[in-house]
Formats: sequence, C-alpha cells, structure tokens
Amino acid sequence: MKLHQALFPVPVLRISVSLLAIAGLLAGTMATATADEASIARGGRLYDKWWAVNEAEKPTETHPAYPGENYKGDATWRCKECHGWDLQGKDGAYSEGKHATGIAGVQGYAGKDPAAVAAIIRDQTHGYTPAMLTDADVMDLANFIANGQVDMHQYVDYPSLKSKGDAAQGKVYFDTICAGCHGVDGKKVADADPLGSVASNGPEMMSKVLNGQPGEAMPALRALDHQIAADIVAHLQTLPR
Ligand code: HEC
Ligand code: HEC
Repeated sequence: MKLHQALFPVPVLRISVSLLAIAGLLAGTMATATADEASIARGGRLYDKWWAVNEAEKPTETHPAYPGENYKGDATWRCKECHGWDLQGKDGAYSEGKHATGIAGVQGYAGKDPAAVAAIIRDQTHGYTPAMLTDADVMDLANFIANGQVDMHQYVDYPSLKSKGDAAQGKVYFDTICAGCHGVDGKKVADADPLGSVASNGPEMMSKVLNGQPGEAMPALRALDHQIAADIVAHLQTLPR
C-alpha cells in the first residue's frame, strides 16, 4: 500500500478528478434519466403484456371489467387494452375504433404516490392477484404510472398517430441500435411481421422503443432523450411493409 502510494500519488489523484468531471458532464446531458429508469421501463413492459415479462400464467377468462365484445380472454387483461398505449384511455388514441372502451386514462396519477397506484392495481375492479403480478411487479407498474408518463402529444400527431420526429435522424439510430436484430429493412426477425407493417400506431411504437418488447432481449431507450425514440418511430413509419 505504502509503496503504491509512493509510486503513484499524483496521477491517481488526477485520474479520479477527471473521471468526476466526465461523470458531471454525463449527468448534465442525460437530463431525463433518473435512478428508477429500469424499474419504470419494466413497468412499461408489464403494462404492455405482463405475462410475457414475469412468466405468470396467461389468463384465459375475459376480464370482468372489460366492456363490450371486441376482445376476449387474455387480451382484456393487458393494462394497455383498457387504458391505451398513450395511457389516456377514452381521451387518447382509444377514444374511437375497435379498441375504444370508454374507460378513463391513468394520466391523473402522473406525479402521484406510487403506493396509491399499487392499491388500485390490487382493488376489486382490477383483480390482479399475487399469482398474476407479484408485489415487485406491482411496484414497477406503479412506478411507471406515477413517474414514467410521457406526454405523447409532444411526439405524436393526433389523430394520424404519425411520429412528429425526424425520420432521417431516426434512421441513423435505427441502423446502429436496432438493425442488428431487425435488419435495416425491419424484416430480419424471421417469425415476426415486418416492422414497417406494424409501425402506424405512434404511441404503441413509442412504448416499444422507450420500454422494450415484453419477453425479448430488446433494449429500452427510456434513459435517453425521448426525442431519440420519436425520431426512431418516424423512421419505422417509413420502412417497407
Ligand atoms: C378490463 C379493463 C381494465 C384493465 C385491463 C386495467 N384497468 Fe385500470 N381501470 C379500469 C377501470 C374501469 C377503472 C376506473 C376508471 C373509470 O371509471 O373509467 C380503472 C382505473 C385505473 C386507475 C385510476 C385512474 C383514475 O384516474 O382514477 C389506474 C391508475 C389504473 N386503472 C391502472 C391500471 C393498471 C396499471 C393496469 C394493468 C396492471 C390496469 N389498470 C388494467 C379498467 C381496467
Ligand atoms: C436484441 C435484439 C433486438 C434489438 C437490438 C431490438 N429489437 Fe425490437 N424486437 C426484438 C424481438 C425478438 C422482437 C419480437 C418480435 C416478434 O416476435 O414480434 C422485437 C419486437 C419489436 C417491436 C414490436 C413488433 C411488433 O410486431 O409488435 C418493435 C416496434 C421493435 N422491436 C422495434 C425495435 C427498435 C426501434 C429497436 C432499436 C431501438 C429494436 N427493436 C431493437 C429484438 C430486438
């Protein structure tokens, strides 16, 4: 120890000072990232399709609170089916069309105590048991609703649901971050639809890019500036079908 200090006292100090400077710089540029980003992204994937994330048994009965006949069985247990990809329910993209349920959005819980959201997920209307969603799952979901809401109107045009992002910029991100798995044409995942054929729903695509795909080793870009996600979605909407 003494020998080490005697040999390298000054350089070691210099290195740690410059590392601190770099860390400070990064903290300055990553203004949207918080310590909870991984929990929030996992909550977003659970919101999308929880049983693909936590490997719980997929429900077979239709959710008792699901109104109408448009969807049946497991689909009606996805949070997104009742509250929408934009989390705005009847006031968002699901205000009309075959996914419309008339159910309110969850935007009123942005910035609220996650414990309040957790209580709602366990209430009688929702009926999610610990076998479906563990307490840890519920915490991630609550964190997503309370601390992870993104105002889709900033990034997506309504009612066209086209991204307002820059597709040329998005292509640069896509070709470097996504194309390894999806191919530059979005057709490389063999058992999946071409990305260009599923990309028209802007809020859904924003959700996939920000939070990742449930059950797949796909990255979640939430910790980066959300404009990057919007630019990528704009590019997805130009890919071949
Ligand atoms: C089958 C439909 C359905 C599903 C699926 C569903 N909800 Fe709900 N949710 C409702 C209904 C109905 C209400 C009451 C709001 C209303 O009166 O329209 C509600 C209310 C809420 C609220 C309170 C909104 C407010 O402002 O009062 C939150 C938060 C919420 N749900 C979160 C979730 C989460 C998280 C999931 C997934 C784990 C989920 N919901 C799945 C039907 C559903
Ligand atoms: C590690 C590999 C991997 C990377 C990297 C990756 N993905 Fe994925 N992605 C997948 C897989 C696998 C699926 C599931 C395909 C399926 O079966 O529908 C998927 C699904 C998707 C879906 C949903 C498709 C649908 O049918 O609903 C979208 C959208 C998507 N990816 C976009 C992207 C974008 C944009 C990026 C870059 C930011 C990206 N992915 C990076 C592997 C990856």
